[in-house]
Amino acid sequence: MTRNNHQPANPLRVISVCLDEGSLTGLQRELRSMTDAEFLVNLPQYLGVADAMGAQRMKDFYPDIVMLDFDQDRVRAAATAEHLEAVFKDRVAIFAVSSKSEPDLIISAMRSGCSEYLVKPPAKERLVQAFTKVAIRKQERERGKQRGKIITMLGAKGGAGVTTIAVHISTFLAKLRGGRILLIDQHPDLGDIALYLGIDKHLYHFYELVNNVERLDAKLVQGFVVQHASGIHVLASPDAFETGVSVSGPDVESTLEFLKTMYDYIVIDCAPGLSGLNLAAVQRSDEVWLVATPDVPSVRNLSRYLEHLTRFSYPVDSVRVLINRYSKRGEITREHMEKVLRKSVYMTVPNSYAEVMDAVNTGTPITPGTRSEFAATLRQWTDSLADNGAAVSVPAEKRRWTMLGL
Ligand SMILES: Nc1ncnc2c1ncn2[C@@H]1O[C@H](COP(=O)(O)OP(=O)(O)O)[C@@H](O)[C@H]1O
Ligand SMILES: [Mg+2]
Repeated sequence: MTRNNHQPANPLRVISVCLDEGSLTGLQRELRSMTDAEFLVNLPQYLGVADAMGAQRMKDFYPDIVMLDFDQDRVRAAATAEHLEAVFKDRVAIFAVSSKSEPDLIISAMRSGCSEYLVKPPAKERLVQAFTKVAIRKQERERGKQRGKIITMLGAKGGAGVTTIAVHISTFLAKLRGGRILLIDQHPDLGDIALYLGIDKHLYHFYELVNNVERLDAKLVQGFVVQHASGIHVLASPDAFETGVSVSGPDVESTLEFLKTMYDYIVIDCAPGLSGLNLAAVQRSDEVWLVATPDVPSVRNLSRYLEHLTRFSYPVDSVRVLINRYSKRGEITREHMEKVLRKSVYMTVPNSYAEVMDAVNTGTPITPGTRSEFAATLRQWTDSLADNGAAVSVPAEKRRWTMLGL
């Protein structure tokens, strides 16, 4: 896509909460005159206590700055700031806006997580100064190249449980760790992700996004993904037989590279095998999970996958072996498999037929609060993750910050 050279590729994204009409008009006017900030929406309500839906709504705007009006209700405004701080950590700057300027009110707003206190009506210079600080911080984050992590999942054979595991690690991550999670169904046709998540309709599939690789930006991606109630974003597969998906491996790779700048975790559910499309995903992955069941054909296939991935120079340390439907009382033990594979098993997931079947049939994944061995295993995995601190950033070629040159 050709961009207007005067339009910065990645302006600061601004939303407001409960901003009075006069201030809203003033803010929109000021922002229109700044080329590197864009106003998105004024939300008419503060966040309620533990308001996950409200927080998710805000997340979906990918804001850099939230302008929070304290005048309607100071207590609820402060609670909103605290909630936003907990959800977004330091990825979003919260600015308090108020007609009052008593020192104790300013202090309490700052304590609730606001990084600026703007007295109405804020002067343009004051706004530019506050915005520039956020722009510098965002730019520093981008320089640090904090990117999301891609986990590609492959089954040692069909029915090993790739879709089940991919759906559950994504939804557990979203629920227990927050952050932006994208689940991609990389099947060229008839993938199961949409079904397992109870998504009836999706307008677009992953390969349509890949076909738009030339004009990828955050807005476009937002229009393509399905937002699932669990908090994750989903790119499903075509839900009909496709007459051959015509995308190239490099386009898949570029798409994933871009998505990495928008999400903290991207989980990819692949069809079995090492097709060109799967290899493209593998190439861009931080981890490849091989999912197998504890039986001889699966273990044999696991060895072949490991051998093949090594041949494609994929670092063997980044390959994780997951044994699904595992039972300690089964014929093939974990130790046995580790010996044959000469690789440790990263995780075993218990066989839990009734609850997994129920989840699949009803399109409602098992939740982290469920009292079951299956849920406990995935909870443990989620808890064990190091805080990767992945933040939203944009690729180097898209960095242009005219505000910094003001
Ligand atoms: N841990 C498990 N315990 C019991 N059944 C499972 C488990 N994981 C998957 N299944 C069942 O196995 C079948 C295949 O799982 P699925 O995730 O669709 O595999 P794949 O995506 O590898 O083809 C499904 O019917 C699912 O309900
Ligand atoms: Mg599947």
